[in-house]
Amino acid sequence: MRTLFLAGNWKMNTNSATSVNLAAGLVRELAPIQNVRIAVCPPFVYLQSVAAALSASQIELGAQDVYYEGNGAFTGEISCEMLKDCGCTYVIIGHSERRHILGESDRLINLKIKAAVKAGLKPIFCVGELLEERDNGKTFDVVEQQIRKGLEGLSAEQVKTVTIAYEPVWAIGTGRNATPQQAQEVHERIRRQLKETYGAELAEKMTIQYGGSAKPANTAELLAQPDVDGLLVGGASLKVEDFAAMVKTAAALKK
Ligand code: PGA
Repeated sequence: MRTLFLAGNWKMNTNSATSVNLAAGLVRELAPIQNVRIAVCPPFVYLQSVAAALSASQIELGAQDVYYEGNGAFTGEISCEMLKDCGCTYVIIGHSERRHILGESDRLINLKIKAAVKAGLKPIFCVGELLEERDNGKTFDVVEQQIRKGLEGLSAEQVKTVTIAYEPVWAIGTGRNATPQQAQEVHERIRRQLKETYGAELAEKMTIQYGGSAKPANTAELLAQPDVDGLLVGGASLKVEDFAAMVKTAAALKK
């Protein structure tokens, strides 16, 4: 049995007032929900105020990125220890916007994942193919390679702390989600890869989220898929009523 895990990726949105209001609204709406793992990932600069708004709630805090060095002359970067100091449990690593807009490589992503795991942060490790790659039948190859390179050098014990988020790039922020069947097909392949590399027991325990235009209207059918264990939500996580509705849908599902 895997506990469903819904995380909100706020991206470069909100300000000091709206970030706290969003967090406080979720705390209010979701207080009774105990059977779903919930996290929100605000911009770095609002982590501490959102952490305060979430305190005494079951909603956990995550960051959207991290740098792999411990400290020093890395202007503009944020370390794992800083994130922990601000109350983070999770950190998103390898999001497609960082891969494709900021040019992050599999190697850099691997260094970040290793640093995060070592520091005791739980990575939400994003993988996913471009539309062109899907159209050319390369989806499985691309995702397989991103996972292999991203997790390189981690022990099975360390891999256990990682959540994988399958986010087809063509579905992110486009309003066009993968169909539940398309999501399941890739999630099943990811779990098979984890099984081949780390064994059946670990693969069964790993959480694999889907991301890409997840919203209240498609939450139930996506989460009904046997290998879809949660959602990484962008746009819809910016509205209390939408994200709360998605979490409540997850809470009501018998998986
Ligand atoms: P979206 O973003 O829900 O707005 O498509 C998902 C993500 O990028 O994590």
